Amino acid sequence: MPTLGLEAHVVDADVRARSIARFRERGIVLPTFAQLADPTTIPTSITARLADIDPDAPHPLNLFRIHWHNAADRKGFSAVPGYVVLPRELTGVAAPIIVALGERFPMIAAHKVLAAYGCLAPRLVTGQFDPTRHRAIWPSTGNYCRGGIAVSRIMDCHGVAILPEGMSQERFDWLDNWVKDPSDIVRTPGSESNVKEIYDECNRLAADEENVIFNQFAEFGNVLAHRLVTGRALGRCFEDLRSRQRGLELFAFTSATGSAGTISAGDWLKSEYGTRIVAVEAAECPTLLRNGFGEHNIQGIGDKHVPYVHNVWNTDLVVAVSDAATDSLYQVFQSEVGRAFLAERHGVSQSVLSGLDAFGFSGLANVLAAIKTAKYYDLGPDQAIVTVATDGGSMYRTELDKVAAKHFPHGVDTAACAEVFGRYMLGAGVDNLAELSRTDKERMFNLGYYTWVEQQGVAIEDFVARREQQWWRGLGELVPRWDALIDGFNAEAGA
Ligand SMILES: Cc1ncc(COP(=O)(O)O)c(C=O)c1O
Repeated sequence: MPTLGLEAHVVDADVRARSIARFRERGIVLPTFAQLADPTTIPTSITARLADIDPDAPHPLNLFRIHWHNAADRKGFSAVPGYVVLPRELTGVAAPIIVALGERFPMIAAHKVLAAYGCLAPRLVTGQFDPTRHRAIWPSTGNYCRGGIAVSRIMDCHGVAILPEGMSQERFDWLDNWVKDPSDIVRTPGSESNVKEIYDECNRLAADEENVIFNQFAEFGNVLAHRLVTGRALGRCFEDLRSRQRGLELFAFTSATGSAGTISAGDWLKSEYGTRIVAVEAAECPTLLRNGFGEHNIQGIGDKHVPYVHNVWNTDLVVAVSDAATDSLYQVFQSEVGRAFLAERHGVSQSVLSGLDAFGFSGLANVLAAIKTAKYYDLGPDQAIVTVATDGGSMYRTELDKVAAKHFPHGVDTAACAEVFGRYMLGAGVDNLAELSRTDKERMFNLGYYTWVEQQGVAIEDFVARREQQWWRGLGELVPRWDALIDGFNAEAGA
């Protein structure tokens, strides 16, 4: 049965003491969840030192950069998280689409390092992970395992990445530079949609008690980090825009679900602003929409399962986006000819065009889902949609040739870019979209039974308890308790 990371008391005092000794020796300090949610509370003794530290170096103080408030140079902090607002010229809809920039996160240039920290820190301070003995196993479709390797290395722990062999070469190149040993990169069969194969590998590795599996699909640290840290950050982006556009409403939040950690930010946005929560998936593998199956290239949003940490009953819409759209638009947005077309024919400004560097495949899927949602509800200029670009375009450059060969048979020229932009962006429709009824939510929730109860051995009572929103709200009580444990841990480590 998977461990769920729900403990908020010291489980093993000896393990905790060994971790403290290790952290004292290495001078490592852990940020609290509250500090990551509001980086203005990080002591100036730390922020002053950050100025000299490369955000991509394996330096322990980079833990204090695991939040959305990194400035454009990724060195200093900004009062408001980095975000872009996509205008009507680009999206074809009046509703402003606010996109928070994951590429400003340290070390991996993607926000999944937050999920990794959110899972590891509670296990350390409760004595469930022993950095002197255990290996931290990070199963993922590529970014979470990079985040896991980064935080493991910073904390001088042994990390192991598990990811499908078909993920982008950039992910593997990064891992090659960061792992202790090449055998710490475990390649599972398949690509994006082969999450079951990742689970199987985890179960195999779990037989060795020195391996601790940080299964993001079932770890509530993932959920709570995003609910608190990402939720508030997105709220601040929205409020910043509203300060210039009075009367703006935060209508919806779109989030492509891999582990369903990021979408948990929606729980907070809904409680604060009444925002609708939109789960995004690939049309080629519509697991939530129609219990479907298939293969796709929207890397990072593994499917064919419903993650244990997905609060399905709080989800309002499911929107599926084709990878033909994300692949092709990626090519248009990353090419000179595509950008020239957007500037000349659609009047897209240079600042918006350079902002397109920030979009990897899943960021584009989030934007397309926002456009479809805006069309479905016929949203106006006072109804904003917020979303995230988890990682940037630089994570997929090696995919450009493959994409060109598949979707641009006559070359990447102006005519082809015009065709792609017209078809997928301006022509995005309300197909593959479901506003969820009670029955739909029940169907999605029940689908998780097969993975979690039958295959992974979760107790049926625990599985069913997740129907109730009260149960999810109650999870919030863990955060101050974890933070108190982090403070106590830091104090004893003398850092
Ligand atoms: C590029 C990318 N997009 C989206 C996601 C999905 O985020 P989450 O796992 O929080 O649902 C991931 C997760 O790894 C990702 O790497």
